[in-house]
Amino acid sequence: MIIRAPFRASLPLQSNVPTRNNTVVGGDNFAIESHSISYSIKTEKGKVVPILKDCSLKIPSGQFWMLLGPNGCGKSTLLKILAGLLSPTDGRVHVRKPRSFVFQNPDHQVVMPTVEADVAFGLGRFNLTNDEKKLRVAKALTAVGMYDYLQRPVQTLSGGQKQRVAIAGALVEECKVLLLDELTTFLDESDQVGVIKAVKNTLSSCEDVSALWVTHRLEELEYADGAVYMEDGRVVMHGEASTIMDSIEARKASYNNTIY
Ligand SMILES: Nc1ncnc2c1ncn2[C@@H]1O[C@H](COP(=O)(O)OP(=O)(O)OP(=O)(O)O)[C@@H](O)[C@H]1O
Ligand SMILES: [Mg+2]
Repeated sequence: MIIRAPFRASLPLQSNVPTRNNTVVGGDNFAIESHSISYSIKTEKGKVVPILKDCSLKIPSGQFWMLLGPNGCGKSTLLKILAGLLSPTDGRVHVRKPRSFVFQNPDHQVVMPTVEADVAFGLGRFNLTNDEKKLRVAKALTAVGMYDYLQRPVQTLSGGQKQRVAIAGALVEECKVLLLDELTTFLDESDQVGVIKAVKNTLSSCEDVSALWVTHRLEELEYADGAVYMEDGRVVMHGEASTIMDSIEARKASYNNTIY
């Protein structure tokens, strides 16, 4: 698991409800699989609060999928379970490894002063020559369209450029699954599109890398191969991106009709 930031502060509390059955499952054609995942927490008064209820999904290898749903429906909790940062109370999970979790806030991604040093940060634990390291850094930065910024101080980059450098930091360690939580929240429109296109380009230029992208922005669905839509801790739709987009718009229209 690749984590490149001071992550613990932003984690929800680990579930304190005993785990029943989280045996690992796995199918070769899927980068991510979850079967009937539940996640509950116990309050100080001993009440069990379900956060995720019976969530199943399958994300094919090499594809770009999005996870959508209203505030508080459980998207980040599900993503953290897929990242291995939280254990489900019940259900089974398989995620191809290595996997990497990238944060919402671009300023939480920066580890080193320059782009080159930042992307190379995780390579220390591999037994690589300097030339091999440089080659890997160049390949990862090229995939996200940031090779020209190799020597730039990270602090001089825009939010979107920092996100792209963070993604390169995951790719350099040959990560197979990118788990991306609301990367575009703090970005303006051009940075937003730049980061999404960087992920798309990564998936087409790096063999067998898959991505699950959490977002609130429905318009981002046009870049996705598939999507999962959650409400109140449950996966309520799962499938091809344009079908999910139509269904969400139909749900919104019917909701608007009930309140006007
Ligand atoms: N440790 C915890 N203790 C109590 N409630 C929690 C805890 N962790 C998460 N929750 C609750 O679980 C629900 C799902 O939270 P989560 O952060 O996964 O939602 P989300 O869909 O990512 O929301 P957002 O769109 O606002 O980021 C929320 O109601 C949240 O308050
Ligand atoms: Mg969230």
